[in-house]
Amino acid sequence: MRGLAKKTALVTGAAGGIGRAVAARLADEGVRVIAADRDHSATQEVVTGLSSPAIAVELDVAERASWERMIAQLPAEFAEISIFANIAGINRDRSLMKMQDEEWDSVINVNLRGSWLGCQTALRQVAEHGKGGAIINIASTAIFGTYGQANYSASKAGITGLTRTAAIEGARHNIRVNAIAPGVISTPMVMAVPDDIRAKWTDQILAGRFGDPEEIAAVVAFLASEDASYITGQTLVADGGATTGDF
Ligand code: NAI
Repeated sequence: MRGLAKKTALVTGAAGGIGRAVAARLADEGVRVIAADRDHSATQEVVTGLSSPAIAVELDVAERASWERMIAQLPAEFAEISIFANIAGINRDRSLMKMQDEEWDSVINVNLRGSWLGCQTALRQVAEHGKGGAIINIASTAIFGTYGQANYSASKAGITGLTRTAAIEGARHNIRVNAIAPGVISTPMVMAVPDDIRAKWTDQILAGRFGDPEEIAAVVAFLASEDASYITGQTLVADGGATTGDF
């Protein structure tokens, strides 16, 4: 895709199913990758297999001090970041009536606060180097509401508003900001769901299957590239044609 080669990308959640695929796809496009995750040993393993120069860094996206430490410690050859893929996310599912404070707070903290800190870091970095860039946030089709996911759904819906505002504020720095709302993607997060529920979900997808992490990574690469130069402030649904929002 156009305009990606030799750029530097920060990918959060890079040890997870989708983040790992994003790191690999961007590396295949010639992008230098900073693979960030709180699971540092897994991220170190991810970068060893990449096809472009890459480093693993430890990051807790919900902690401002962790972002500041990570940026301050970047080696010079990775310091000029222009692509920010905010992939890290968690779920703690329980019906709204039974949900505990910790389940609400942790999901809002990692998903929404983490994406906010990611966008803020990105805007500051790009404003400093002045060469423009792209942010890709990860929402979910849970933005339409899903049983047992009040915390997750609210965090992901929040990300769509954050994305729009970051696009408005980022435009003057030539930074495009978009989100992807994946449907059900085959990663550990989803494969932990009971078999009968996964079978029900599959019936509701026009593609007749769950998505692969590589299919979301392709959308990330597109939105990061100059091929998407006229797209900003959007949330792009990639769900194989789901016939209900009840995921
Ligand atoms: P995953 O569980 O495989 O990977 C998530 C990664 O985020 C893990 O490596 C984990 O260590 C990391 N992480 C969690 N909390 C963190 C923190 N505080 N700081 C830094 N890293 C942290 O999940 P998956 O499936 O790859 O999901 C990636 C993103 O895609 C998430 O935002 C998720 O909500 C979103 N998503 C996933 C869908 C799916 O069907 N798998 C559907 C829609 C959205």
